[in-house]
Amino acid sequence: MQRLSSKDLVTILDLSREDIETIFETTRSQKPLARAHELPHSHPNRTLACIFHKPSLRTRVSFEVAAQQLGAGSLYITDREIGLGSRESVEDVARVMSRFVDAIMIRTFDHEHVERLARAATVPVINGLTDLTHPCQILADVFTIEESLGGIEGRKVVYVGDGNNIAHSWINAAALLDFPLVICTPRDYEPDAGIIEKARAKGNLDLTISHDPKAAVEGADVVYTDVWASMGQEEEAAERARIFQDYQVNEALVARAKDEAIVLHCLPAHRGSEITDEVIDGPHSRVFDEAENRLHVQRAILHHLMA
Ligand code: CP
Ligand code: NVA
Repeated sequence: MQRLSSKDLVTILDLSREDIETIFETTRSQKPLARAHELPHSHPNRTLACIFHKPSLRTRVSFEVAAQQLGAGSLYITDREIGLGSRESVEDVARVMSRFVDAIMIRTFDHEHVERLARAATVPVINGLTDLTHPCQILADVFTIEESLGGIEGRKVVYVGDGNNIAHSWINAAALLDFPLVICTPRDYEPDAGIIEKARAKGNLDLTISHDPKAAVEGADVVYTDVWASMGQEEEAAERARIFQDYQVNEALVARAKDEAIVLHCLPAHRGSEITDEVIDGPHSRVFDEAENRLHVQRAILHHLMA
């Protein structure tokens, strides 16, 4: 079993372009077998711990199912049990968990907690979303684009909405892969400057920051959006709904993209806010293929990281 260049997946920048190709090759070969319930149990007697400090449908279910499909077990752990950084230090949690399980997937608020967990753990640590990034989501998104459009190279990807964890992981993906990325947000909701700086240092970033959704989506191959208020920002939802109202992905906006453009959304969607029913249920949408691909891409990630 081929290993990746990194022990962990904390951000997409932990991976090389070759690692991404390795993950996608495995995804392509496993997906039809898994769909036919014929995937061999390559990882028996292994256990994945899934730590969740925020709600989840896709990440939780797809990681647990992916582990089972590989023949491994999985655990669902909330902060009530472990008190990460409060009941005991992040590092002690990492050291103890490393004696029990073969990999740790964590969804939490503070990105630094995941970095510290990864540094102190001897087993792989996978970021299942922090306030800063969501690498597994964007790897599944890139895979979906490759499936739908035959490749991401040279494809114009336009993200319309909040400069949040999803936007940040798109910037990281663009630092490694060859495609132009436009991030279109209201003023004061741009992506984090530190994320852009680190991605630029990779030397491959073709990034445009825009505040004009109509101009941004002109000629797009992929139109992407996400919620306007992320988990933990619920109290800002009303204010954000007002500020983001011109950033809705609706039929009029999608009509400015290429005829064959696809629309993606990481979900959960607030239908009628950042995206309309007509678009999410319409002919350009690949949103539910994208959701399914979380399972297939993450199974490949586990396949290699738990090797
Ligand atoms: N897209 C995504 O991560 O969904 P969940 O929050 O349901 O896991
Ligand atoms: N930006 C969203 C993504 C959900 C998958 C959030 O953090 O809530």
